[in-house]
Amino acid sequence: MNFSEKLKAWQDQVNRAMDQALPGSEVHPTRLHQAIRHSVDAGGKRLRPILTLGAEDLFPGENDPMPAALAIELIHTYSLIHDDLPAMDDSEMRRGKPSCHVAFDEATAILAGDALQPMAFEWLARGYASVPKLFADLSLILAETAGSRQLVGGQMQDLLSEGKEPDEENLSYIHRNKTAAMIRASLEMGFRIGAMGEDMEKTAQVREAGLSLGLAFQAVDDLLDVTGSTEELGKDAHHDSEQGKVTWVTLKGEEGARQLAREHTERARASLEGLGGNADFLLELTDFMLERKH
Ligand code: IPE
Ligand code: IPE
Ligand code: MG
Ligand code: MG
Ligand code: MG
Repeated sequence: MNFSEKLKAWQDQVNRAMDQALPGSEVHPTRLHQAIRHSVDAGGKRLRPILTLGAEDLFPGENDPMPAALAIELIHTYSLIHDDLPAMDDSEMRRGKPSCHVAFDEATAILAGDALQPMAFEWLARGYASVPKLFADLSLILAETAGSRQLVGGQMQDLLSEGKEPDEENLSYIHRNKTAAMIRASLEMGFRIGAMGEDMEKTAQVREAGLSLGLAFQAVDDLLDVTGSTEELGKDAHHDSEQGKVTWVTLKGEEGARQLAREHTERARASLEGLGGNADFLLELTDFMLERKH
């Protein structure tokens, strides 16, 4: 299989596994489960679960990476539902559909996001019940990454910085935590599940690769907000400037942001190449994430 075939095959596998594992929209209270499915089933690129599957495949082992891949996507989807709320970015479109609070209402969107968080840890517990050390390690990575010093901390700082003067140190903190941390965790969890998962040196290298990839990813997200259309992106375009967000585009201009994305991508490639293992897919995915149009 070439790169795009494998990407498509993994997206389909993730979507199927997700559909099977999520509570049906007929489950009581139906409004809540419909809202959860509205946001999760809307699709999205599924990059984080695919990074987890790809990182496990570096040194394949005997444990299934899918439960961890799905758990990451649940946390990511909750973060998008809450990110779109009027109290946060106030975005009306997500994944090509009305945002959760637009399709339902704010209270339902808050609760859908709330429900997705414990669901992620429930799925880890079910998936790795027979390998307790693995379960503990994966839970710790995900909990730390989603918590107040990383994802939520980054989101807090993103909101506190609206309308402020761009400041490089602050913006680096925001990108590292609101976005890059989850991309890093996706790779780290996949690698932990594989055969070399307890090798500390390689783990550090995987973390480096993930952080660089995540920083490139958010630089591209900031660029696409300026260069893309709402139709292409499936989410509100030109929204960052409307909200007074501090981004790499406001700080360094479009060409500066593009250059930064390329530099982080190069760093990610170098760390992945240094690992050995079956890195071909992840290397192509790294380029794909830089070149993406949505
Ligand atoms: C959007 O992430 C939020 C950011 C961290 C920039 P994605 O661009 O991966 O969104 P989906 O999952 O494909 O919808
Ligand atoms: C969102 O960053 C990061 C998280 C949801 C944690 P953005 O606010 O830039 O993401 P988009 O552009 O709305 O997808
Ligand atoms: Mg935001
Ligand atoms: Mg947003
Ligand atoms: Mg954005």
